[in-house]
Amino acid sequence: MKKILILFSHPKFESSRANAVLVDHIKDIEGVTFHDLYERYPDFHIDVPVEKALLDQHDVIIWHHPLYWYSCPPLMKQWMDMVLEFNWAYGPKGTALDSKICFNAITAGGSRDLYCSAGTNTFSVNEFLRPFEQTANLCGMTYLPPFAVMGTHQLTNDELIQYAHQYGALINLLQQDESVGDFKDCAFLNDILQLNTD
Ligand SMILES: Cc1cc2nc3c(=O)[nH]c(=O)nc-3n(C[C@H](O)[C@H](O)[C@H](O)COP(=O)(O)O)c2cc1C
Repeated sequence: MKKILILFSHPKFESSRANAVLVDHIKDIEGVTFHDLYERYPDFHIDVPVEKALLDQHDVIIWHHPLYWYSCPPLMKQWMDMVLEFNWAYGPKGTALDSKICFNAITAGGSRDLYCSAGTNTFSVNEFLRPFEQTANLCGMTYLPPFAVMGTHQLTNDELIQYAHQYGALINLLQQDESVGDFKDCAFLNDILQLNTD
């Protein structure tokens, strides 16, 4: 069974609605390590050896965060800057992350229809996430499309719970599945699951 590391980054988790529901549903799944970066590093001083050891021990890495200004909250970026070192994560001797699976799990205030050339946000979510995609590529990881919960302000609690079940089902699938070939072909990982799973 694949081991899953969720690197969670939310600067105001205490006032979260969407992520509170998602996290509550997935954090205790067997084989999942839920790692809350803001809880662990409120001073932004990341323990690089600890983070590298965690990465070593897992097969699937999830960058889980709310979308803030079309990107991730700052501690997530700090984590990338500090942990993904030359000749460890990338570079001629940088093979530590080779073949691991990686993707973003995001929540966004804007709904899906606003993220296109005709919409307010001009670009798709996948386009905004390109720096993550290329970081994963450079580190030899297999990057999958995002799991996304969008239009969060309009979602009812029941809808959020359905998304949480969907996230749990995705994690179960990733734990079991040997090949993630089909996963790359969709715009969102949500699309490979039926809403209302579980
Ligand atoms: C500083 C800040 C920046 C944000 N930037 C975006 C953004 O670029 N795009 C978007 O769709 N929503 C944006 N939002 C809305 C958040 O993504 C949304 O409130 C969050 O995902 C909801 O999850 P939560 O209830 O767990 O906080 C932003 C919110 C904050 C506070």
